[in-house]
Formats: sequence, C-alpha cells, structure tokens
Amino acid sequence: MGKTLTEKILSDHLVEGELETGEEIGIEIDQVLTQDTTGTLVWLQFEALGLDEVQTELAAQYCDHQTYQFDFKNSDDHRFLRSAAGTFGAHFSRPGNGICHQVHKERFAAPGKTMLGSDSHTPTPGGMGELAIGSGGLDVAVAMGGGPYYIEMPEVVSVRLEGELPEWATAKDVILHLLGELSVKGGVGKVLEYTGPGIESLSVPERTTITNMGTELGATTSIFPTDDNTKEFLSRLEREDEYVDLSADDDAEYADEIVVDLDDLEPLIATPSMPDNVVPVSEVAGTDVDQVMIGSCTNGAYEDILPAAKMLEGREIDKRTDMIIAPGSKQSSELLAREGWSAELMAAGVNFSEATCGACIGIGHVPASDSVSLRTFNRNFEGRSGIEDDSVYLCSPEVATAAALTGEITDPRDLDDVEDPGFEMADVYDGSTADLIAPDNAVDDGLVKGPNIGDVPLKDPLESHLGGPALLKMDDNITTDHIIPATQDILMYRSNIPKLSEFTLSRVDEEFAQRALDSDGGFLVAGENYGQGSSREHAALCPMYLGVEGVLAQSFARIHKANLFNFGLLPLEIDEDTYGKIDQGDDIEIVDDVDEAVRSGETEFTIRVNDDWEATGTLKASEREREILADGGKLPHTKAQQEGS
Ligand code: F3S
Repeated sequence: MGKTLTEKILSDHLVEGELETGEEIGIEIDQVLTQDTTGTLVWLQFEALGLDEVQTELAAQYCDHQTYQFDFKNSDDHRFLRSAAGTFGAHFSRPGNGICHQVHKERFAAPGKTMLGSDSHTPTPGGMGELAIGSGGLDVAVAMGGGPYYIEMPEVVSVRLEGELPEWATAKDVILHLLGELSVKGGVGKVLEYTGPGIESLSVPERTTITNMGTELGATTSIFPTDDNTKEFLSRLEREDEYVDLSADDDAEYADEIVVDLDDLEPLIATPSMPDNVVPVSEVAGTDVDQVMIGSCTNGAYEDILPAAKMLEGREIDKRTDMIIAPGSKQSSELLAREGWSAELMAAGVNFSEATCGACIGIGHVPASDSVSLRTFNRNFEGRSGIEDDSVYLCSPEVATAAALTGEITDPRDLDDVEDPGFEMADVYDGSTADLIAPDNAVDDGLVKGPNIGDVPLKDPLESHLGGPALLKMDDNITTDHIIPATQDILMYRSNIPKLSEFTLSRVDEEFAQRALDSDGGFLVAGENYGQGSSREHAALCPMYLGVEGVLAQSFARIHKANLFNFGLLPLEIDEDTYGKIDQGDDIEIVDDVDEAVRSGETEFTIRVNDDWEATGTLKASEREREILADGGKLPHTKAQQEGS
C-alpha cells in the first residue's frame, strides 16, 4: 500500500512507535519556533532542565505578540528572549520584524522538515510541504534539547481540490468553506492533506492561508505537496536549494476524503463570534462597518495586501469606516514601500500598524463599543478584539477592502468599476535582514532577567487522594482566551505566574482565582472541546498554580490536553449526563487511589459527587503521559529521568 505525504515525512522522522492511527509515536524535530508570549516560559523551562544548547537544526525566537513597549515589562521580556536566543543558539527576530508564521515562512520553513512551535498556528508552512505542529512550550523546550515529540498518530484525511477559484473568490474562502462545512471541531485528531488538480492553481501564500486556518478546524496540522509553485516561491526567496519534491503515492490510502470544487466557491464571511459561523457575504451585505483590518498570520503577506492596494488605487475609503493594515512581516511592508503601494494605501485613507499580532489579540485598534469590525484574521472569539460583546467578522482582504470602500459589508462582485485585482506574487523578496539576528551573530551578554521574570512553579507528584469542590462549571468550547485572556494588560505578566494567575478564568467568573486559592484543591468542569484556541501553556500552568487538581470535561482540545498533562492536572472525560448533573460547588472526590491507578494504566475512574451519587470519568492517556502526570508534570518528570540516568 502506498503512503500519504504525511506518512512519508513522519516515517523519515520516526524514533518511536508505529504509524497506526491512535497509537503514540515519537518523532524527531528539525526546526522549532517560539514567540514572545510563550517563549519566556520555553527558555525558563529549557534553563530549568539544565540544557545549555539548542540541539535541533534550527530554532527561532520571534517577538510578535506583545511588541508595544508600554512600560518595562514587555521590553524586559524582549531583552530576556534576545539574551536566551543568543545564549542557547536560536535566531532572534526583533519586535516589529513580523509575525512568527509569516517570517518563518519567508526565512526558514522548508519542505520535508518537521517543525514544532509554541503557537497554535505553527501549521502555517504546511503550505510549502513542511510538517509543522503546534504544542505547548514545554514540549518545544524538550524538543529543542533533542528529545522526541510525542503525539497520537492522527488520521490522515485527503482534502481534494478540484477546479479553479472563480473571480473574487480567494484562498480564504476555501478555508472558510471548510469551516462552514466541518465546524471548529471538524479536524480534531486529523491531518488534512491537500490533494487533487485544484492545488496547482494555488500559490504558496494562498496555500499557507489555508494551512494556517486548519488550526481553526482543530486539525493537528495541514499540508500541501510541493510542486513548481513551491519551487518558484523558494527561488524568489533565494532558497531554491531547499526545494524537495514531495507528494503522496498514487495508491495512498486516506482515512477519509473531502472534495472541494473551487469553481463553486464565492466570497464568504465568518460572522461573530466563531470562525465556523460562515455564510456567503451576500447574506450579510448592507451591515454597517466601523472598522476594517488587513493583517495577521493568516492574511498579512505582501500578496494579501497588494489586492487591497490595487482596489484602493486612486480611491478613498468611506468616511464612516477606519481601515488599518498590519503587515505580517516587515519584509512585506518594506516591499510595499519600495514599490510605492504603501503611499497609494495611505492616500486612500489607510493607517499602517507595525508588523505585529497586536489587534488579533486585542492589543491596539480595539473596536468601538457596539460596532462591527471586519478582519482578515483567523479568530473572532468573543472579546478577543479587546472589548466584550464585540462583533468581529472574518473575511478575505478583497471583502474587507470592499467594505472599506462602501462603509458596509459588500459582496465585491457588486462593486461598481472595481475589478478583481487577482493574485500576484512578489517578483523577489529582497527585504533586509537587519531585524533577524543569527546565533553566530548574537550579542554576548548572558541571560538577562528583569524583575517581572520569575521562576516556573513546580507541582508535587500526584497524590493518592484527589478531592475538592467543582470550582467552576463552564459551557462548551471554552477557549484558552477564556482561561487566560491574551490582552496586553494581562499577558504582560506572562513571565510572572503568581501575578498572571490572578486573572485565570476572570472572563468567566471574576471571583474564580481567589476561590481556587482559598480552596484546598478542586476541579474545573466543562462541556465539549475544553481549551480550544491557542497553545498557551499558561492556561494549564495558572490553574495548576491556583491548586486546581483536574478538569472534568466532555472533551478536550488536543494541545490543551497535552498541556494539562505537562503541568500535572488530571484530564478526565465525562459523559453528557454527568456533565449535566454536576453543579458548581458540588463536592467531588475521585474514589480510586489516583496515583496508583494512573501509573497502572487504569482508564476508568469513579467520581463521587456530594457523597451521594457516582459517575465514571475516563482517562485517555499513553503510558508516557501517565508517567508525566503521576510525576507532577513534564518538568519534574524530565528532571527525574535526567537524575535517574
Ligand atoms: Fe498572532 Fe493572531 Fe496569528 S496572535 S500568531 S496573528 S493568530
């Protein structure tokens, strides 16, 4: 039987296990990526593990999430990250140089390599044939130290593209279409491997828009084969020697196949406040728009901004609407400036932001109250823009620009005298590299830690008895943004866990953190898909710091579940009936000898509620995850292993 492309790359990197769906495999990692929000913990954990040099082929530290230096805290973090990259041997991308996925795509991503990144949109370079997976920072720290990355072998699903995109339909509409069809849970446990004749009409930047938002489907990763388009993209970056021909075998077998006929697509839009609330633009046309933003790791490339520039050339945006462009990388903005497009955009009334995540996580350009913002980003979770009850829509740059021109949501096919700008690649990416510091060019000043950078808290090994109140009962689809909001006023404490913990789940219940601290242990209770969203391990670490012992949920998002293991929190799956019967404040006790049961491979745990009734919680974990959990998390576990060897 032939192999899928995913299986081929995984076999080349396999160090443990077999490629059987659901089985745990260990793979060698070639490249790692981290950013400033997650990166300080990555390096603090790398240091705590006693490691002294990056062992992967390449490591890159980006500063993109919290680039604005409001006071000393972000600046201290940036200085610490630069010093850590220099000390341990990683490339350092300065604040303002761009969003990690865009810059990594331009500078380092390469076909056939494996990459692990402490950011959920790490799969972005799947569009150029790299197998890239998002994980918690501790997994990245261990991989950087040369350890394998462990994951359950996902199902490999073929997404077969037929035909060609019609006028005004874009790559963003391909992924919005899939989100509308499959939902934010549709890719869980899967690698989405793109196949079929429709691929050849899509350039690498278009493909990376699609692989970027595979994360919103919950997919482990998404990947395209390589071809002449990949070769051309690499050669424009003067990296053609990194090209490798990659495709699935003709007789490869997939777990499933989804067919998308590109000819049938039209401009689509995700309405508030989930990326899978997708409708044709025409359905919501006429809605007043206060703000339009083009940028993010999804649509912040030169090729995403150029269509807006062409549409706005010689025109002005509507008086009712603000339009902001936040390029995905400084290289993109440099190119737009050199070609004169930035001036065209400014003349049309557009404001430029620096190349940063910024507004994507509510830092800057917060929409007005009770207003509509159209964004080319990948997420529109409620409150993520920085204001509660926001109304954020997700769409292509073309749809966003059409709204800027008219002041209302507009199907671009209905615009008078504006032609589809089409898709055009940059001739050559000749941006400077002044903002990217290679390890052999690093400033040699040792590790520099400011007062807001603390140690990583450690947990004791699992006890035999776990019990305490249901500290908080939550609904389905609780995101990591709910658990630890990503706004500047909160995430500036990302390297100071005691302080950051005060904000844990504050968007759900402001009293939660104090209640958890006051209680001697306890549990979180949630519905389906608990922990979806980012890879932010603070969302497990902060509850752990507050004394939470476990999470009882109907299901867990993949990266967050791994983070719960990594910080020693027991993730038990419960059925709908049990979820419905548990109330906040109920007394929960795990009847079994938990330490013994976890270590011995027990899957079913008896949960006694209020000393009155019992239910079953299921622990789905590999042997390795059980050992990590029982030792109190991956840091104590890895240290114990080091001491034992
Ligand atoms: Fe940054 Fe938003 Fe992407 S936070 S990495 S632009 S999802």
